[in-house]
Amino acid sequence: MDAIVRPAPLIPPAPKVHAKPLGLTPLGQLRVAWEMGRSLIGAYCEEDYESLAAPYMFMGQPGLFLNDPAGVRHVLTSPKYARPVKAARSLKPLVGEGVLMSEGETWRRQRKSLAPVFTPAAIGGLLPHFVAAGAGLAEGLEGRDRANLAQDFHRATLDAVLRALFSRRADTEGAVLADLARRYMEGPAHFNLMDFVAKGADDLLFMDGARHRLGRRWFTAVDALIEERRAAPHLDVRDLLDRLLAARNEDGSPLPDQEIRDQCSSMLAAGFETTSRLLFWATYLLALDPVTQDRVRAEVLAFPAERVASLDDLKHWPLLRSVLFETLRLYPTAPLIARQALEADVVSGCDVVPGCMVTISPWVVHRHRRLWDAPTAFKPERFIDQAHPWGLEAFLPFGAGPRVCIGAGFALAEAQIVLASVLARFKVSMASDRPVLPRASITLGPDHEPDFRLERIVQARP
Ligand code: HEM
Repeated sequence: MDAIVRPAPLIPPAPKVHAKPLGLTPLGQLRVAWEMGRSLIGAYCEEDYESLAAPYMFMGQPGLFLNDPAGVRHVLTSPKYARPVKAARSLKPLVGEGVLMSEGETWRRQRKSLAPVFTPAAIGGLLPHFVAAGAGLAEGLEGRDRANLAQDFHRATLDAVLRALFSRRADTEGAVLADLARRYMEGPAHFNLMDFVAKGADDLLFMDGARHRLGRRWFTAVDALIEERRAAPHLDVRDLLDRLLAARNEDGSPLPDQEIRDQCSSMLAAGFETTSRLLFWATYLLALDPVTQDRVRAEVLAFPAERVASLDDLKHWPLLRSVLFETLRLYPTAPLIARQALEADVVSGCDVVPGCMVTISPWVVHRHRRLWDAPTAFKPERFIDQAHPWGLEAFLPFGAGPRVCIGAGFALAEAQIVLASVLARFKVSMASDRPVLPRASITLGPDHEPDFRLERIVQARP
């Protein structure tokens, strides 16, 4: 009998893995800081993909590089750890004191006030916005035979988040916001040398001029959105902004303007860049794997995005959903999760001292040789029978514990609908052979924005 010949799975591009650790000498540590300033995933070595927990010293600070899934869950759920100063330095100019950066009682209150916006029922109500954003994107691609989809996905996800959170379209002001957020993520969001040595979020700010200049322009644009709503109030609660404006503190007073602004900024900043990157990498993988692309297309032609009316309808696309999970495994769009120890602890057999930086890299955990079979291969089928893949021990694209991503359901529903809208109309391939390498800062973006070739699908008439 003939053996079934299966094509070898795709091994998509990834940055070089260094043979040996770089940071063993003072000069080596400067090299690590430099590599990580360029890309947070640029300094990993072979050993990192084998070890489960490795203590280190970096620029005089103790750290623990943690891949052990049980240790990771412990750190992300324990009150002994908080988000580190480094993250606050890089993100605060964009998100202020909103839910992303707040801690303690303020965080608990903020998270509680946001929860109703992200229940499955509330996300179900947002589906028409996602369908409209996907249709708008596909319509805009009509007549084009190539496109820089990184930019198109950026616009589409901004459109979706603006519609869902502020009931407005990505028009002129929307484009300004998209441009500012994008420039921030691609430039000042990257860690600089001072981020590694500063002890507090507001120390050594002299290298942070670009962050604060761009951050001020971003806040001005978000303030304008809020002012516009205040100038034309309505009685019913339609979106996140309505909820924030209607929210009351325990003493009955409204939330301060700055908190409303920071919450809106946090949701905008967290909500569209990550999802747009997910769409980019998923499309890139499908362009490199046309067989899987055709199978996904069969699913979305059988149940087109325009018919999606409830979250249950998304069950018509099991392979598309698995492709998105496999994309999040191979190209986790939030590539680094860091925590700083507030008190002494023991994690995965390693002593942790107060102040120790625990580095959790979904990039490494998801490609770890002891945790995954064929870790570097694109095999979406591995997720096909997983009802809740985020329950998998070694899969943390949305983090874990109390600070797990509040927008995971939102992002997945949106990404499925937007991608389905594109694939139902176009066959997608790469316009050039140049590999696209991931470059990590706060999110995982491409090292260059390639053109995709688009071929219009002509559907046979029934
Ligand atoms: C593919 C898309 C997304 C990915 C991969 C992603 C990933 C993450 C991760 C890993 C965290 C936890 C970070 C940590 O523990 O330090 C997080 C937190 C968060 N995400 Fe997402 N996210 C995505 C989409 C969204 C969307 C669409 C929204 C909102 C509309 C959102 C809002 C938030 C917020 C507010 C937090 C902070 C939660 C807290 O600290 O309590 N995210 N996200």
